[in-house]
Amino acid sequence: MATVHSFARALGERCITNDALAMLMTTSDEWIVQRSGIKTRYWVDAGTTTSDLALRSAQRTISLLAAQASSIDSIIVATLSPDYYFPGVGVLLQQKLGLTTLPAFDIRQQCSGFLYGLEMAQALVDSGKYKRILLVGAEVHSNALDISDRGRDVAVLFGDGAGSCIVESSSNQANSEQPNSNHRVSFEIIDTELHSEGAGAKELWCEGPGSSLPHRAVTPEVFATGRTFPQMNGRRVFESAVRRMVEVSHSILARNGIAASDLKLFVPHQANLRINLLVAEQLGLSSSQVFSTIEKYGNTTAATIPIGMCDALTEIEFVRGDLILQAAFGSGYTWGAALLKVL
Ligand code: ACO
Repeated sequence: MATVHSFARALGERCITNDALAMLMTTSDEWIVQRSGIKTRYWVDAGTTTSDLALRSAQRTISLLAAQASSIDSIIVATLSPDYYFPGVGVLLQQKLGLTTLPAFDIRQQCSGFLYGLEMAQALVDSGKYKRILLVGAEVHSNALDISDRGRDVAVLFGDGAGSCIVESSSNQANSEQPNSNHRVSFEIIDTELHSEGAGAKELWCEGPGSSLPHRAVTPEVFATGRTFPQMNGRRVFESAVRRMVEVSHSILARNGIAASDLKLFVPHQANLRINLLVAEQLGLSSSQVFSTIEKYGNTTAATIPIGMCDALTEIEFVRGDLILQAAFGSGYTWGAALLKVL
């Protein structure tokens, strides 16, 4: 049985208010709060990269681990904003953590990246291939947003952050010390469910740099057209996000014989407060069952769920047997859900 624990997070160094954005583009605190729920987000200082945020979060996760960092035997990083076109962030994190030549995977499933990583880690642990996997979702969006009126629909939504945890087998964990703080609560991964639909790829995407463009796109001509900035059909993504998150949540709950009212907490991806409130309403969840961080951090893509778990562990008292549902939808399209139980 695979377990997940030691959730930690790291955020960009600067808190950016909606009023600060309104000085850079035509927008307002009122518009942003009303449409998305976001009040602040954290952006990195110049020079801080995705692997730097991944490192800060991973070091906190490792400090919660009642075992040596050297016992980690693989790394999975989910990100859409790697330091470089290649190599991926996984190898950079391996080097920064000073770990030996362990395998490092990068996965590219955007807002669903953490859930894709969780399912992958669970399968690798359950197969016996690896014993203790460091799973990280990390993003630096702020230096790749179109901070102008042209890009304001996307630019106001995103923040920089990382979240991390350990996935390992319960028998492996039994050999370590028992949890002794809320952040060391362990969760059994009961089930996961993932989906993709490439037909939606261009509804939320960033065309360049990419092999579909000459010289991978970074020419002044392509840059001027805005094709190197994220583009989003906001309304279509919104509708698909609500539909797919409800669908996958119903599916995973039904398969496991769990009613929405049985859930202690719903920790969804954080793209828009209105999306999560609609999903919660359609699932029949009460407001006290829904955990939200979007007001403070905006959308940190692959990092939202581990960041949410980290904050939930600070704010909420969990007891053995509590059930947690996670769900996400994002670019790809990709979406999924995971069901956890407090051990
Ligand atoms: N400030 C002020 N006005 C703005 C801004 C802004 N930042 N952005 C857009 N507007 C204007 C538009 O130009 C439009 O003006 P018009 O009516 O004169 O044409 C008006 O506000 C309404 O725009 P809409 O796009 O219709 O606003 P909507 O209510 O749909 O909200 C939003 C936009 C917040 C982007 C919403 O569509 C949304 O949240 N979509 C989903 C986002 C999401 O889920 N992303 C997925 C995750 S990201 C990932 O996977 C990488």
